[in-house]
Amino acid sequence: MNVFRRRTVADLQAEADQDKRLNRVLGPVNLTMLGVGAIVGTGIFVLTGTVAAQNAGPAVVLSFVLAGLASVFAALCYSEFASLVPMSGSAYTYGYATLGEIFAWIIGWDLVLEYAVGAITVAIGWSGYMVSFLNSVGIHLPPELCVAHGQLVTLADGTQVKALFNLPAVIIVGLVTTLLVVGVKESAQFNNVIVIIKLAVVVLFIVGAISAVNTANWHPFIPANTGQWGQFGFSGVLAGAGVVFFAYIGFDAVSTAAQEARNPQRDMPIGIIGSLFLCTILYILVSAIATGVVPYQQLDVPDPIAKAADMAGMKWMSLLIKLGAIAGLSSVILVMMFGQSRVFWAMSRDGLLPAFIHHVHPRFRTPWLTTISTGVFVAFFSAVFTVREAGSLCSIGTLLAFVIVCVGILALRIRHPELKPRFRTPAVWFVAPMGAITAMVLMAALPWKTWERLLVWMAIGLVLYFTYGYRNSRLSVERVKD
Ligand code: ALA
Repeated sequence: MNVFRRRTVADLQAEADQDKRLNRVLGPVNLTMLGVGAIVGTGIFVLTGTVAAQNAGPAVVLSFVLAGLASVFAALCYSEFASLVPMSGSAYTYGYATLGEIFAWIIGWDLVLEYAVGAITVAIGWSGYMVSFLNSVGIHLPPELCVAHGQLVTLADGTQVKALFNLPAVIIVGLVTTLLVVGVKESAQFNNVIVIIKLAVVVLFIVGAISAVNTANWHPFIPANTGQWGQFGFSGVLAGAGVVFFAYIGFDAVSTAAQEARNPQRDMPIGIIGSLFLCTILYILVSAIATGVVPYQQLDVPDPIAKAADMAGMKWMSLLIKLGAIAGLSSVILVMMFGQSRVFWAMSRDGLLPAFIHHVHPRFRTPWLTTISTGVFVAFFSAVFTVREAGSLCSIGTLLAFVIVCVGILALRIRHPELKPRFRTPAVWFVAPMGAITAMVLMAALPWKTWERLLVWMAIGLVLYFTYGYRNSRLSVERVKD
């Protein structure tokens, strides 16, 4: 049994060149927009306030800087891989080329936590914003159809009942799945419109609220620790970074579009690094302004940015921010589900998942079966999970993928010094280890419960690999044929 067997980089490059079934229509602008579409979402619109109030105070800005640093290191490693092995499997395929099949499987299985569970988290968040928006315009959905199964809700007559399921979350996932099946070009165009709307809202907030900053709110910048780890002080900044890391998740989803990009070798790094750079700047500005306008103790609300706009005297803006968040979150769901369907598609091509789902739709040129399977999975769990459960699971899954990609790039440099990717990670012997270390530090800052879930998920994955994947892998089947 050889679980470390690998697919060669040359073989993967040849396959990326030859396989033209998916529609290669995305250029550098669409790819960058795809990245921003996935990145700007619940993190900045919701978590900024939670972390400022509970963990870091105004130093939530530092939490954003720290989490941004971990992301930049990983983004540089992702960019080198994506320009060298431009395949839709992203980190899963990079693992196959450098560390061996079992690691590829572990990353592929782990990416479900990033992309599918990310989409689940954001679909639940979307539902919350939508329900609150509808309420504010006088439309009231039955409360038992608005949150996770089993949650207690209060009806109009004051009685308490258990919720059935989260209907708005299921509806948005259904709509997004349909769009993704219909075409990548259509999906990218929809994403572009949404990204412009949400960037406009964020920029409007920055420009409008900056004059209302009261610098007294920034003192003390790092409030003293309460005696408990993670509640203010330096440990609070660190714990906060673990939470706001969620806000950066998504730039790597760009790499799953490699087989739908016109010139992936050149454009993948532009999309990955460009989108991350833009969002990092916006996050630092938004979090600094929000804590400058509102005393951090008052930011623990579901819509902290809308509250800051309110306090900055822009009452009209708070509705706009809600609408921006609703639109913005739908593009996060879109890109996350896009990423998941491409990773499943790559895994089924390699035989680690059933081959029949590898079908490409003859007219739409999309991996429609993996898209629909992803849609069903995401819809089911977004109907029954709570946002807190899903969010930290998504973060730990993404961080694990970052660790493996950063280690993978070093393995690549050692094993294949002759390869000349178009984009090379600068100072790789510093950047890659730092990427792995910062990701591990952020993982360590997450609660033990999240670790337990990660371990259970990985254990299920390994059972599936040994009972199905290993035997059906294309590498096993090809060996039998030889
Ligand atoms: N980065 C994405 C968000 O904050 C997942 O919603």
